[in-house]
Order: sequence, then structure tokens, then C-alpha cells
Amino acid sequence: MTSLNATPALDCRYRPKWHYAAERNWLNDPNGLVHSNGVYHLFYQHNPFGDVWGNMSWGHATSTDLLNWDEQPVAIPCDEQEAIFSGSAVVDTHNTSGFGVGGVPPLVAVYTSAYSPSSPLAGRQAQSLAYSTDDGATWTKYAGNPVLDRASADFRDPKVFWYDGDAGSYWVMVAVEAVRHEVVLYKSADLKTWEYLSTFGPANATGGVWECPDLFELPVDGDAGNTRWVLVVNLSPGGIAGGSAGQYFLGTFDGVTFRSQTTVTEGTQTDDSRMPDYGWLDWGRDYYAAVSFSNAPDGRRLMIGWMNNWQYAASTPSQGWRSAMSLVREVRLETRDGRPVLVQSAVDPFGASGTALFAAGPEHLADGVRWLPAEASGDVLRIDAEFKAGHAGKVGLVLRAGSGDGGKERTVLSYDVAAGELSLDRTASGDVDFHETFPSVERVAVPLADGRLRLRLFLDRCSVEVFAQDGLATITDQVFPSDSSLGLGVFAEGHGGTLVRLDVVG
Ligand code: FRU
Repeated sequence: MTSLNATPALDCRYRPKWHYAAERNWLNDPNGLVHSNGVYHLFYQHNPFGDVWGNMSWGHATSTDLLNWDEQPVAIPCDEQEAIFSGSAVVDTHNTSGFGVGGVPPLVAVYTSAYSPSSPLAGRQAQSLAYSTDDGATWTKYAGNPVLDRASADFRDPKVFWYDGDAGSYWVMVAVEAVRHEVVLYKSADLKTWEYLSTFGPANATGGVWECPDLFELPVDGDAGNTRWVLVVNLSPGGIAGGSAGQYFLGTFDGVTFRSQTTVTEGTQTDDSRMPDYGWLDWGRDYYAAVSFSNAPDGRRLMIGWMNNWQYAASTPSQGWRSAMSLVREVRLETRDGRPVLVQSAVDPFGASGTALFAAGPEHLADGVRWLPAEASGDVLRIDAEFKAGHAGKVGLVLRAGSGDGGKERTVLSYDVAAGELSLDRTASGDVDFHETFPSVERVAVPLADGRLRLRLFLDRCSVEVFAQDGLATITDQVFPSDSSLGLGVFAEGHGGTLVRLDVVG
């Protein structure tokens, strides 16, 4: 077992402190997120042999606090017959699969076999099982694989959960027919034999292939008597900010059919003018393939996204490792403006161990940037800010600002008061030239609450994650600034804005 950041040669520029990245080589989607015997398992799409996509296998890391991850050996390697694409894992508590030994429940991974040209099933994607009887340390592929084959080339990313409701008690699988923009549902008593239930979609965003679905039930405002089912559908390209992104639908699930209550447009879209009206997990460029943990304690619904975008993922600066996960997010449903919406908060790396570096407010904001003193600077920070917009045109923060260049290099988080729009501008954030689609400005409409804007930000060397209005909207973007770009500023355009409070923790 090696510890994250254990190899000094690779613990280098841009390597995040709190976001999981493989010690070496390539990583994409989180897979098989499961909690078992006090340990969180994070499996992930991994190329064990290089820093670009290929040789897809399941990498593995474990954590007891969702913050400090220990890298484990590759869990499910590819072979000549198949690549191991995305999927999920469950604790088979009642040993329905029969894989358990000695009364100990097995862990069962359900993954997509992407068959190689040398396989008799060449070109197909079908669902397969692997199981572990030693709490995730070693994995065995099931001899009867695949367990679900539709003779499709684009059938993938199974998410399996235990359904227990009016229709009965059984395993449910949600997977995608990616190109057809469909989520397909199946049920099983033993994880080995699957029966078709229903199909959802196409609906809302369909500008790319649908991938990595998830389906789970959440109480609204914590009321167990008032729940909605959340259907997560990642898609790429065709996301709200360009390229890869995750959308969600709220509705009901009766054990057979998911019925959406938040569908804006049915069918495959050619007109994308309704994009801002859809439910988005994140409004930035770098939160993809997000799925949730199975079996998380205390009924918490915890999600991780891949902090990257297929548009430029192969080109981001790399030093032997490439790509990180998002922070772990807890998602809840809250009533805002009379309707349930998904709100998110990050599992906070600074909660227990952070050091208060700087605090300010309340203070009136003059027109222009107020650069904060050196103690507020850094590249691994949590920043909490509350603004009262007043008569200002814009208020916001200047992040990762250059020192020798008068802050020319910068990432800007700005709230346009008249437009009611929050934007994150990374066009001058540092190294942006490695791909033409990378420089970008992300936007999301966010209403003020009592004239106030509340922001929580996490900076972690190569990323900015923004949680606005207590998690109502999030923006996640990678940035690749110069090492010396550590400055932080507060700004307003026009007079009359107030910085109610600013807290910087490192
Ligand atoms: C999503 C995805 C999945 C697939 C995996 C392959 O990013 O394309 O649909 O299973 O990545 O690595």
C-alpha cells in the first residue's frame, strides 16, 4: 500500500493536496463507490501504463474520512479480451449472488466489459461481475460473464442499488444506451440474471452521448414522508458549459419506471436554447461522470465527479499523473423558490484541521480591486465570502492572482448584480494554451438571498470549486496558474457594495 503523495518525484506542480489523483498515470470516472466495514472505496477508470486514456482498468483507493486516500493495487485489470469500463459496486449483504464465503457478505462490482477485437464479442459493451471476499483487497471475475448483453456497442456504466419498496425487494440496475440517449433499467434477485424493466429518455440535454447514470431517493428538506427520486445522467459533449457535464431529473420511481417531474424538453434536441432550464449538477467545465456511494452511513448521499472534461482531458499539463477527482460532495434536496432542488456541500478538508489565515468585514467596497495581505494568499485554501450587492454593478473575488505582473494572471469569480449571474473566468488563469477549448467563462443564474451572495470556494493547486448560495449552484474548473500566482483580491464595480464577511482558511 502506498500513501498519496508518497513519491516525491511525482509530488510536484499542480498535484492537488485534497483531491484524489492516482500516484502515477491516467484516471477518469469514479467507479464502484462503496462503503464497507468503515472504509470508503474509490475505484476509478485508470490506465496503469500511461498518462492518457487506454488499457482501461479499475484503479483503487481507500479512505476512512473521504479526504485522505490510500492508493491500493489495481483492482480489476484489463486483459486481451476486454477493457474494464465504468460501473458500480455493492455490499451483497444477504449473499444473493452466492459469492460470499463463511457468512461474510461479498463486495460485488458490476462493470462494463468493452470487448476487444480478439474477443468473440468484439465491439460489444455488456455488463459483467467481479467479486471480492476480502473486503475489496482482491477481485475475481465471475465465470459466467457477461451477465447482461444486449448485443449493443454502446450499453454501459451500470449503477446497481437495492430497491425495497411497494413493488418488492430486488437489485435494480440503471445503465445507458449512450448514443440513443436512453437510461435503461433492469432488475435481478441475484445480480447474475437480469430482467428488463423500463427505459427513460431522451429528454433535456442530448447534445452528446449519455453516460454514467445514477438513481437514488432523497427526502425533501429532510422529511422522510416527502421524497423525490434523483436520476443523474452525465453527458459528453453537450454540457451546459461546453463538453462534459452532469444533468439530473427529479421524479418518482415505483420499482419499475422512473417518471420525471422536471423534464423541460422531450426527445433528442437540436435547439439548445433551453439548456439553462435543465437541472445541472455543476455549471463549470470540470465535473463529470459524477455518481454516488453505495451503502454510505447515516443515509448520506455522497458523490464524486471526475474533475476534467473530455474536450481537453488528454492535453492538460501532466507530470506522470493526469487528472484528479472532485472533492466528495454531499447532495440533498431543499425547497428553494417553492420547488425542490439539489443542493450540494463539499466534505470539507479544512473543517477539523484548517488554520484561520485571514478575516475581514463588514466593510464597504470601493470601485476596483482590494488586494488582500500576503497571509490571505495561497494555492490550497477554503474561502468563505458574503457580499451585500447594494448598488454595485458587480462584486467578486480575484483568485490565484500573479504577483510580478500586477495581477494580470488571474481567475475571476464575479457576480453581475443586474443580470443575477455568477461567472468564473479562467481565460487569464495561467497555462490555457494547451487546448483551444480550455480558456472559458462559466455562467450560472443565481438569485441573491436578502440582497446577499454567499460563496464557499476551495482552491487546490489546479482547481477552483465554487459553492454559491449554500450549495444551490456549483462551478468546478481546473486552472493551471504560475507557481507564484497566489494572490487574493476582493473587488467591486461601482460603489455601494459591502463585503459582509470574508474568511480564508488554509
Ligand atoms: C465516461 C466514460 C464511460 C466509460 C468510461 C471509459 O467518461 O466514457 O461511459 O465507461 O468513460 O473510460
